[in-house]
Amino acid sequence: MRGCIAASILALSALALGTWAQSQTKGPQGVSINTVPNSYIVKFSEEPGSIDWEQAVGDFMADMQKVGVSSRITINFTEVIVAAAITFEDQYVDQVAMLPTAAGLFAVNQASLAPLASSSEPVEQPPLPMLAHTYTEVSRVHDELKLTGKGVKVAILDSGLDHKHPAFGNCFQTDGCRIQYAHDFIGDVSSGDSTNMTGPGNPLSTCNPHGTHVAGILAGNDGVFKGVAPDATLGIYRIIDCSGTTTTSAILQALEQAYKDGMDVISISAGTPSGWRFSPESTAVYNLRKKGKVVIAAAGNDGTENLWTVLSPAVSPGALAVASVDLPQYYSYYFNVTTADGGITQIERSGHQRELPPLDIVDAPLVGAQDAQGGADYACGPIADITEKNAIVLVQRGTCPYTTKASNVIAAGGAVMIVYSAVKEIVGGVSYDQNLNLPAFSTSYEGGQFLRQLVSPSSTGSATVNVDMTMHSFNASIPYQVSYFSSWGPSPESDVKPDVSAPGRAIYSSLPQEYGMYGLMDGTSMATPYLAGVAALLVQSKKFFKPTEVYSAIVNSARPILQTQDQYFSAAQQGAGLVQAYRAATTTLHFQVRALATGYTDYLAFGATGDEKGRKFEMTLPVSNRASGAVQLTLSFVPAISATAFNESGVLLPTTQYSTAAPKLTFSQDSLTVRGHSQKDVKVTLDLSDIPSSNFLVVSGYIHMRVGSDTSKVVASVPVLSSAFKASEIPVLPPKDSAYPCLISSDLTRCLTGDKVTYTMSGDSFPKVAFRIQFPAIRIRVRIGHAKTPDHVTASVTENSYLYNQRNMNSDNAYFYAYTWNGKAYRSLKVENTFDMGDGDYVLQFWFFSATGDVESTMWVTPPFTIKRDATTSSVNSDSTENPGDSTSDSEEHNGEDDD
Ligand SMILES: *[C@@H]1O[C@H](CO)[C@@H](O)[C@H](O)[C@H]1NC(C)=O
Ligand SMILES: *[C@@H]1O[C@H](CO)[C@@H](O)[C@H](O)[C@H]1NC(C)=O
Ligand SMILES: *[C@@H]1O[C@H](CO)[C@@H](O)[C@H](O)[C@H]1NC(C)=O
Ligand SMILES: *[C@@H]1O[C@H](CO)[C@@H](O)[C@H](O)[C@H]1NC(C)=O
Ligand SMILES: *[C@@H]1O[C@H](CO)[C@@H](O)[C@H](O)[C@H]1NC(C)=O
Repeated sequence: MRGCIAASILALSALALGTWAQSQTKGPQGVSINTVPNSYIVKFSEEPGSIDWEQAVGDFMADMQKVGVSSRITINFTEVIVAAAITFEDQYVDQVAMLPTAAGLFAVNQASLAPLASSSEPVEQPPLPMLAHTYTEVSRVHDELKLTGKGVKVAILDSGLDHKHPAFGNCFQTDGCRIQYAHDFIGDVSSGDSTNMTGPGNPLSTCNPHGTHVAGILAGNDGVFKGVAPDATLGIYRIIDCSGTTTTSAILQALEQAYKDGMDVISISAGTPSGWRFSPESTAVYNLRKKGKVVIAAAGNDGTENLWTVLSPAVSPGALAVASVDLPQYYSYYFNVTTADGGITQIERSGHQRELPPLDIVDAPLVGAQDAQGGADYACGPIADITEKNAIVLVQRGTCPYTTKASNVIAAGGAVMIVYSAVKEIVGGVSYDQNLNLPAFSTSYEGGQFLRQLVSPSSTGSATVNVDMTMHSFNASIPYQVSYFSSWGPSPESDVKPDVSAPGRAIYSSLPQEYGMYGLMDGTSMATPYLAGVAALLVQSKKFFKPTEVYSAIVNSARPILQTQDQYFSAAQQGAGLVQAYRAATTTLHFQVRALATGYTDYLAFGATGDEKGRKFEMTLPVSNRASGAVQLTLSFVPAISATAFNESGVLLPTTQYSTAAPKLTFSQDSLTVRGHSQKDVKVTLDLSDIPSSNFLVVSGYIHMRVGSDTSKVVASVPVLSSAFKASEIPVLPPKDSAYPCLISSDLTRCLTGDKVTYTMSGDSFPKVAFRIQFPAIRIRVRIGHAKTPDHVTASVTENSYLYNQRNMNSDNAYFYAYTWNGKAYRSLKVENTFDMGDGDYVLQFWFFSATGDVESTMWVTPPFTIKRDATTSSVNSDSTENPGDSTSDSEEHNGEDDD
């Protein structure tokens, strides 16, 4: 079998010689990721459940001995993936990856899912009914179909649960108790491997409130607050530690355990940013689906990072990847504003900081911030002194950090800060250095408009504020929209990802007692258990026999939502649209569509990659009717807004840009009759010829089906998505004038320009390269050449360390992959054939391969540098001075996966 190693990413602090690093650590709204040093998952080619796994492990260990790499197996995976967690020294990655007995080698990732704005009050909050159930038809499924998840086993892979919470009945494994399974795979502090896990038997973990919130959405029930599948049987698998960290090994172990425990549905609100379907997690999830399990996974919270950011395992063809939408109505805290005429208005507030005491604000005067310059109200510079005592100061969001605004409000004598949004959106919290000790919260666009006219210089009256500690429901300024934080697809291979959306913004659910019992959280983490709950309801109905039928019901009955008056949000952002549970549970139409790009037979939407020649794609849409009577369908196509991540020169943009350029889609017939219990194929032609490929647009839309002549009633919809360009046309590297790639200083802070650098290959004097990639790169190779012949390969340095690479995040240019060369090279895979390159003048060559199947690559060569070892430390193999020649194995471009 072929060897490979997937995107392994090291924290800068863990930077080891001969290995490499990427810092993707991001701010409060994202994921930070690094790899666990010397820890890998080796994948074998055996089918899960095969009795041959021991033989495979044995053969591999024998191979390891032959090449002389000492290693230790820490976990064997046998049920959902045949693989082993293994430790060996990072410097042998290439040798191990190329062993014929290793079908794949992947670094163990450690990722932190930092929570999005969550808002809990320091005072206990009461249970309230879930508002979302009205908009997702879950209420109808509960009331009319009487489905509640009873008898369905649902696994929640998260941070554990406060099962003593009233919404979970304070029970475990007793008769009639919903919580029947529990297993901890991570412990309070992730150790990177499994040493800190506590094993089976205890669901209770409250240090991180995430899991209790997630479980509440899925299956909480205290009579008033009711989750989506309140009677489901739960398995609580802890894979997220107190600080929010998860690891590849914990996820794989939990997936295996959930399978052994006979779970029907698996909900996973975590993942690692290795957005290719070949990762071990994605492979395991794909196998689970083949074994009849429904897997629902969070797309991720990188919506502001532009396209191609869906996490693994959500990116797996075995999972439904869930995006988040904002609903027309949501709960928030509020405050009362009493105007001079005695009228009281309830204004939304959000984002109280838990660390501060409750906001006991009574009759506080409201004043506006007046910047010294120009009367603006951003409070980014000094503001006019505030004479009122205990004043609440209104400040506009934007142009400078909250800490600056807060400092200026304090300096002017304000007691509390309200930040208003100048755009229509559901507002997030305000957070900043709590040592400033200035309570602050934010308010909506509407709230801001109302308050502004009260504090404007022309206003005559006065206003006072009273903060209330209870929840109130508010109407959103825009009824439906994809949440700003929801990660964009598509997958690197242009599969439609995310698959579908569920409510994930301002979701009110259970929290551990010490977090106030109930509170709000945002995230695709919240949308995921919502959808998993819907899947549990469908499984309970026993109308669906395979996971793909459940997926089809969910995806093809979802309701796409509009971004503009006549164009939908991109399918690369919302998938099929907002889940409609009643329609899904009652549908008799099913679709199984073959994805053009990857050839997966069981994809529910088209994915295609436009090539410059044809730009017309013929696809077959099989429509199957499970009802006994015939159905007459009318077909139409409604395009979604097109989106691009790049400008016309192929430079990654800071934010997604939109285009109204829309694909055309025609049918072999616009209407058809499908007899009862039969299937009919429709030929569909997707025409991209009007779409300029130079804009790098991802185009999409929805095939709508209506019954008979009733054109108002869409009964099913099929998302269609395509990239209108070839992946290889996108430059993998940023433009030439950008800082990267570069030789970088040993502390990774400065690109080295100017004079040729000399390295002694001891201490911290090793060549280091920093690079950024704009687009997912399936493989990056590193080779060495002599400075005089920089384009000529002398030997290999790293062939298999960089496979399935995530593109660099945008939000901070400081994020880059960092590579350190330890001076070693090789021409064959045996460890003893690794040698130190002799002293001399060299270049490192980086070869970037952008997409699956692409043989084209981009080469970047470092400036020449000198290796001159200290006489005392030098121990150089004479081999290095032999004639240059490229004897590196080129036989496999990458690890192919066996697709079905
Ligand atoms: C994994 O399986 C191999 C082969 O049977 C065995 O030698 C090894 O002890 C196992 N390791 C663990 C940690 O289970
Ligand atoms: C295991 O957890 C403890 C605290 O519970 C922590 O101090 C320790 O560092 C952890 N072990 C590792 C190897 O991280
Ligand atoms: C805010 O106003 C509402 C409606 O008038 C009232 O029920 C509530 O008690 C008030 N809260 C406070 C803290 O004044
Ligand atoms: C919210 O919307 C509903 C339905 O459109 C409407 O009946 C209600 O009055 C609105 N509430 C507020 C506070 O605007
Ligand atoms: C694309 O962006 C780069 C960097 O900002 C800029 O230099 C280039 O001119 C842009 N190209 C186009 C066609 O706008």
